[in-house]
Amino acid sequence: MFNLILFGPPGSGKGTQSEKLIASYGLIHLSTGDLLRNEIARQTPLGLEAKNFMDKGRLVPDEVVIGMISSALDNNPNAKGFLFDGFPRTAAQAEALDKLLTLKQTSITVMLALEVGEEELVQRLLKRGKTSGRSDDTNEAIIRERIVEYHNKTAAVADYYLKFNKVVMVKGEGSVDEIFAGLCKEIDPRV
Ligand code: AP5
Repeated sequence: MFNLILFGPPGSGKGTQSEKLIASYGLIHLSTGDLLRNEIARQTPLGLEAKNFMDKGRLVPDEVVIGMISSALDNNPNAKGFLFDGFPRTAAQAEALDKLLTLKQTSITVMLALEVGEEELVQRLLKRGKTSGRSDDTNEAIIRERIVEYHNKTAAVADYYLKFNKVVMVKGEGSVDEIFAGLCKEIDPRV
């Protein structure tokens, strides 16, 4: 199995590039942000709990997202590989993911980390906020809080995979196609 973590701060292009990557490589896309927004749209208890955190730009508790990923892995027994987008976001999530994948006799192949400057991130998200309907994109203070959460809790996840020599940095600024080409260059020799 080929299991990819597409990593990077909010607005770095994980969702945009994920769509192209799953089309090219036939991976199952697991985005915890999309799964949580789906729960919110259906007004489930999990969604209502998650919304409190997301509206403030804070991370949702680990046990909530780990449970969602565990179910998603079980629901796709014939997958040829997974693309994790927005997960893992804490060291505890990374450890839980490793355990879940070990149970399925597989592991993370590589983490590709998109590098984008902070002001570019803020401008991209504010622009999307004009049309997306995402409450966490409309307020610059909330966007900056998401970036602070990334630095405080999520950046360490790259250190976790660095220990296993699984992290590759990829330029995340430029055109969508240029960035996609940079990602494919790293994936192709590993598939
Ligand atoms: P999540 O949905 O994961 O959002 P995020 O990581 O904050 O980032 P985005 O989806 O906003 O950005 P992206 O990197 O996917 O970029 P995109 O391609 O969309 O998480 C939302 C919230 O859910 C979190 O704050 C947290 O509360 C909760 N959550 C989710 N997962 C969690 C977890 N594991 N643990 C705990 N809590 C969790 O692009 C952004 C914009 O830029 C788009 O408009 C796009 O068109 C544009 N763009 C993309 N590429 C380019 C380019 N090359 N040039 C110009 N513009 C571009």
